[in-house]
Amino acid sequence: MYWQAAISWLAVFQLVGGSFLLPGDVRPSHYDLRVTYDLDPATNYSYYGVVDILLAANKPTSKIILHAKDFNITSESILISGQQNPPTAKSAIINSTYDFLTITLDRMLDTDVNYTVTIPFYGNLKQGLDGVYISSYVNRLTKVTEYLITTQFEAISARKGFPCFDEPMYKATYRITLGHHKQFTAVSNMPLKSRIEENVLEKYWPWQIVQQKFG
Ligand SMILES: *[C@@H]1O[C@H](CO)[C@@H](O)[C@H](O)[C@H]1NC(C)=O
Ligand SMILES: *[C@@H]1O[C@H](CO)[C@@H](O)[C@H](O)[C@H]1NC(C)=O
Ligand SMILES: *[C@@H]1O[C@H](CO)[C@@H](O)[C@H](O)[C@H]1NC(C)=O
Ligand SMILES: *[C@@H]1O[C@H](CO)[C@@H](O)[C@H](O)[C@H]1NC(C)=O
Repeated sequence: MYWQAAISWLAVFQLVGGSFLLPGDVRPSHYDLRVTYDLDPATNYSYYGVVDILLAANKPTSKIILHAKDFNITSESILISGQQNPPTAKSAIINSTYDFLTITLDRMLDTDVNYTVTIPFYGNLKQGLDGVYISSYVNRLTKVTEYLITTQFEAISARKGFPCFDEPMYKATYRITLGHHKQFTAVSNMPLKSRIEENVLEKYWPWQIVQQKFG
């Protein structure tokens, strides 16, 4: 408890310094997030995801800077689309001091038009209490340990779940697709729109690759 309090105090202090805040050159308006989780201790709770972020630049910039923490991205598969001849991503680097994911483009974004940035990512969930994390309980009847995946996205934890602009001023709408094994159930605080059996990540994470990891 004291430790947590000390950490948030430190974060507030550093934010005042300014360098932990995003530069504010681009603003997101919508996220289409697709993630498939493997709720299996044997495979270290692997997951694969893709996020499409609809965003616009407030001023000419050749960098898109957002948050990312504790997962890996495949920088060569980051794609900018949504306008004619969009820029291409030259590099994507995570700075773990600031949790910044800096995507450097080959040229400037035009201002005030919408681009879509597509970012594939993958990682392993941890047992913990923030971001997207593994929780467990012992079933009283069977005495078997059951696992669940849950989220805690209060500041500054959403960045541990997927690449995003993790500051309160960046309001946006979301469409979320959760992939999981048939034996589990996914619940959300918004109504279910549809359910399908295909791998929605196939274009970025073919089932052949996912299956190798998920076992
Ligand atoms: C994933 O990222 C971590 C740092 O967050 C790094 O240590 C690790 O080597 C990366 N793994 C792969 C497979 O790229
Ligand atoms: C993050 O960026 C800062 C400022 O450029 C630099 O001092 C620091 O070493 C970087 N941290 C990592 C982990 O790359
Ligand atoms: C970008 O798309 C969002 C969501 O559809 C919309 O609200 C916004 O007005 C668009 N912005 C521009 C600059 O076209
Ligand atoms: C499992 O994933 C966690 C989180 O990325 C990592 O810290 C740990 O080293 C992994 N363990 C194994 C056995 O790969």
